[in-house]
Amino acid sequence: MKTVKIILILGARPQIIKSAPLIQLAEKDRDVSMQIVHTGQHYDYEMSKQFFDELRLPDPIVNLNVGSGTHAWQTGKMMIQLEKLLLNEKPHMVVVPGDTNSALAGALAAVKLHIPIAHMEAGPRSYNMKIPEEVNRRLTDHISTLLFAPTENCCKNLLKEGIDKQSICLVGDTMYDSFLLHLSSASKDKVLDELNLKTEDYAVLTLHRPENVDFPEKLRKIMETMLKIKELVIVFPVHPRTMKAMKKAGFKKEALEKENIKLVKPMNYHGILKSMKDAKIVFTDSGGMQKEAFWLGTPCVTLRNETEWPETIDLGANALVGVNPKRILSEVQRILENKYIKKMLKEKPNPFGDGKASEKILNILKEFCSRS
Ligand code: UD1
Repeated sequence: MKTVKIILILGARPQIIKSAPLIQLAEKDRDVSMQIVHTGQHYDYEMSKQFFDELRLPDPIVNLNVGSGTHAWQTGKMMIQLEKLLLNEKPHMVVVPGDTNSALAGALAAVKLHIPIAHMEAGPRSYNMKIPEEVNRRLTDHISTLLFAPTENCCKNLLKEGIDKQSICLVGDTMYDSFLLHLSSASKDKVLDELNLKTEDYAVLTLHRPENVDFPEKLRKIMETMLKIKELVIVFPVHPRTMKAMKKAGFKKEALEKENIKLVKPMNYHGILKSMKDAKIVFTDSGGMQKEAFWLGTPCVTLRNETEWPETIDLGANALVGVNPKRILSEVQRILENKYIKKMLKEKPNPFGDGKASEKILNILKEFCSRS
């Protein structure tokens, strides 16, 4: 078999986690040369490099250092550099994971050069086009040659949009692959000791969606609701975007700490998994954490009005409450009153595959590239 040359384009934290098992498998495979291109969308150590180190990933061949900006500026700047790079490197295929601006920029640059694209995590939909990730994932799906869907529901969504059945591959969720690979090390992580937390005496909170954090009123509403939860300490690893918004909205770390809300830096992968595992509740607006909470058997309360992972709602593992204080607090009560909730959630069937999605993806990529 000839060596297949694949370029994987990533740039934001969740993309590193969902690509890690595939990158590691490709490293060991003599028939594949997989090169990572980092757009530089995320640039703080805690948002990027720490995951390359922790997940033992090879360095990207290049970092485009695009940094922060408006959507068009960020995406455009990535595309200009990616086009040049792809013309030079001439890969057989471009792989883009997830739904970030980096994924869309990679896919658009490749499709115009007639380079086949494989989209990892194809098919989730929130059906709200005001969410940037929804635009990114829809457009990426419609210009991809191979669509790797994590769940049956994602396949159905793609078929409904008229995407050719032949190009859709139901492989399972590569985030679940990563999760299984790291669960045992994560379980030994010392984050609880470091933060002085006791199992199930606390909740984890994360926020980063523009629709929540870019509006001081909304952010204030969320934080004021969290302050009302007296039964639990709230551990809040703060995304850089959210940190800026918190400062703007006038929240002070010390004042919140007195009220049992612990603001900490964005955690590494093992740290966040361990803290979610032993938490009573996960409050989040992240897509990935809704799934991770479910795999860990921790009830999730999603601070959004829609989700791209309805599977977790149907299984009773996740509740969509928006930023409505009444609904948030009544969910908290429901969870606190159910002693068996974690046990119950752990017994649910898992619609996200068997932990071998990355293996299947690599085999399909090799087969596809050696034919073309
Ligand atoms: C991005 C992705 C989102 C993903 C999230 C995970 C898009 C549209 N969104 O959102 O899908 O779930 O990453 O974190 O691609 N910033 C820093 N340091 C960093 C990174 C960001 O300070 O290392 C700040 C900048 O002020 C920037 C803001 O955060 O303007 C937002 O960053 P950006 O990459 O645009 O989007 P995220 O909100 O991180």
